[in-house]
Amino acid sequence: MTTRWLRPTRPGQQPRLEFGADYNPEQWPREVWDDDIRLMRAAGVTVVSLAIFSWARLEPREGEYDFGWLDEVMDLLHAGGISVDLATATASPPPWLTTKHPEILPVDQQGRTIWPGGRQQWRPTSPVFREHALRLVRAMAGRYGNHPALTAWHVSNELGCHNVYDFSDDAAAAFRGWLRERYTDLDALNAAWGTSFWSQHYSEWAQILPPRLAATHPNPTQQLDFKRFSSDALREYLRAERDVLHELTPDVPVTTNFMIMGAQKPMDYAAWAADVDFVSNDHYRLPGPQSLDDLSFSASLTAGVAGGDPWFLMEHSASAVNWQPVNVPKKPGELLRDSLTHVAHGADAVCFFQWRQSRAGAEKYHSAMVPHAGADSDVFRGVVELGATLQRLSALSGVRRTAARTAIVFDWDSWWASEQDSHPTERLRYKQEALDWYSAFLALGVRVDVVPAHAELAGYDLVVAPILHVVPGELRERLEGYVTGGGHLVTTYFSGIVDEHDHVWLGGYPGALRELLGIRIEEFEPLLDGETAALSNGTTGTVWTDHVEVTGDGVEVLARYKEGGAAITRRTAGRGSAAYVSTRLGPDGLAPVLAELLERAGIGSELPQELRGRVELAIRGEFWFLINRTAEPVELTGLDGEVLHGRADLIEPRGVTVLRRTV
Ligand code: GAL
Repeated sequence: MTTRWLRPTRPGQQPRLEFGADYNPEQWPREVWDDDIRLMRAAGVTVVSLAIFSWARLEPREGEYDFGWLDEVMDLLHAGGISVDLATATASPPPWLTTKHPEILPVDQQGRTIWPGGRQQWRPTSPVFREHALRLVRAMAGRYGNHPALTAWHVSNELGCHNVYDFSDDAAAAFRGWLRERYTDLDALNAAWGTSFWSQHYSEWAQILPPRLAATHPNPTQQLDFKRFSSDALREYLRAERDVLHELTPDVPVTTNFMIMGAQKPMDYAAWAADVDFVSNDHYRLPGPQSLDDLSFSASLTAGVAGGDPWFLMEHSASAVNWQPVNVPKKPGELLRDSLTHVAHGADAVCFFQWRQSRAGAEKYHSAMVPHAGADSDVFRGVVELGATLQRLSALSGVRRTAARTAIVFDWDSWWASEQDSHPTERLRYKQEALDWYSAFLALGVRVDVVPAHAELAGYDLVVAPILHVVPGELRERLEGYVTGGGHLVTTYFSGIVDEHDHVWLGGYPGALRELLGIRIEEFEPLLDGETAALSNGTTGTVWTDHVEVTGDGVEVLARYKEGGAAITRRTAGRGSAAYVSTRLGPDGLAPVLAELLERAGIGSELPQELRGRVELAIRGEFWFLINRTAEPVELTGLDGEVLHGRADLIEPRGVTVLRRTV
């Protein structure tokens, strides 16, 4: 991907950090729009995403467009100096379309129709939906392609948020097409899916179905391929809209908002990034002890997916959301700190869902920049402060994040495959393991990039690949090359187990990585709920253990299980090393293990000792972000530089200090 950033909407526009929100003026009477523009200007808003859910208002009857209101909003925004990231408006089909063509409605695994009433009720593979949606995209591009406020196109919205897994007949037909491309002939598919098992051999393509509700565990490779297909189907849809936009408005960059956050796993954004002109992400913080860590992890992964280029934070929340069991507002400082954490990891735009809090509809209790209480509110005052802060930090615009010396590899294929059914345990959580390692890095004050498996690893001194379950031959060679070339690789339980077809590498685990790690495991030994395994280094494992046999040269046992077996090993190989952690240690247990591995690799923290753990460091060129992870002030010593934000002597509770350092 070669990143193209927003199209400037005024002559001589200076580089800046963008600031704004989803704007849904159609929910409000006309007189509110003037107030919106006035308040946007007061807050320093530079960009809004418009018309995301406007299809039913823009095309109230098939082929009849009503653009008048949107023309007016576009003009008002432009007159107010605000650019528009204009949605293609295809996110949710209008009632006339689902009534006339119920065959566009998705079908779940149990054969139940997903009816209208919510949103995103369309099949990613429906030719009928696509025809109608692309006609609207053409109409939008034709109408607004030359509008001076237009700065980017926003394809649909959070593709796959509710409709990624569709088991309809359309999906079945498209799945077969996808499989034909992947395998060419049925013999190859039968081999890849291991269909000799349970009498599943296919003799015609037409016999193949999505993994619909089955009597017991559906074929695992069929399931894995269906996950790959479902991600690809939406990606293909993204490309279809993008191609229309590129054809009609070649100068306007196209994006769509990803959902790199929490437990969102169905979309392989590492692959999708190639199909947008710049990466955008939405992030909502989940409660819990690793809430902040997850924010930083997701931001870092977004930067990794964007290849290190700046990216656009399309949505986060000004305060509470409405879709958790209990929705708690943000505490003082959090709005600014969360926003600047995204900026620290490369966001050049900070936007929210949404501008004005709705009076009606399912999201009326979701916070917004202008809350129900109005502009005379702490939330809006916080918004104004954030707008001013982003203006002061405009020198950051376009500055890439500075790569760390360490990385965590994040691999969607391994996420999907390692958590499938009929495995040694159902308790394994891929994302959690990766996040735990990230938390351990944060605790040690060592910067770490989160990168997709296809990323170039050679620049990193140490790479952690947690639960790297799927290791095709090509990846195995790359990892071997990385270690031989002097890299320090760390991996964990259930890694290296299968190839790209989910077939087990034979001869003992961890299969593809066995020789590199110099160990051999004959049987997995997962732990029952409540069971733990004490290690000689004082840490405690849960979820998983292995009976590790040391087989290679140069393998050192760094920790043993109390019963005596090796729990953590490290093999020196060439100028590098390959380490294995055979149990789940959690963030606290991983911290000392990681500290030792980092020390062996000669990697230290860039932070003064007193700040480590309490402060997160992220660097973009000359700009150092010091993010207070605690609710107490943290004294700031040992780092100098020009203070661009915050205080020089301390970092406020839940606050951030931004330094410009020329060292
Ligand atoms: C996102 C979505 C927005 C809004 C928001 C609420 O998933 O794109 O439209 O629903 O969540 O948190």
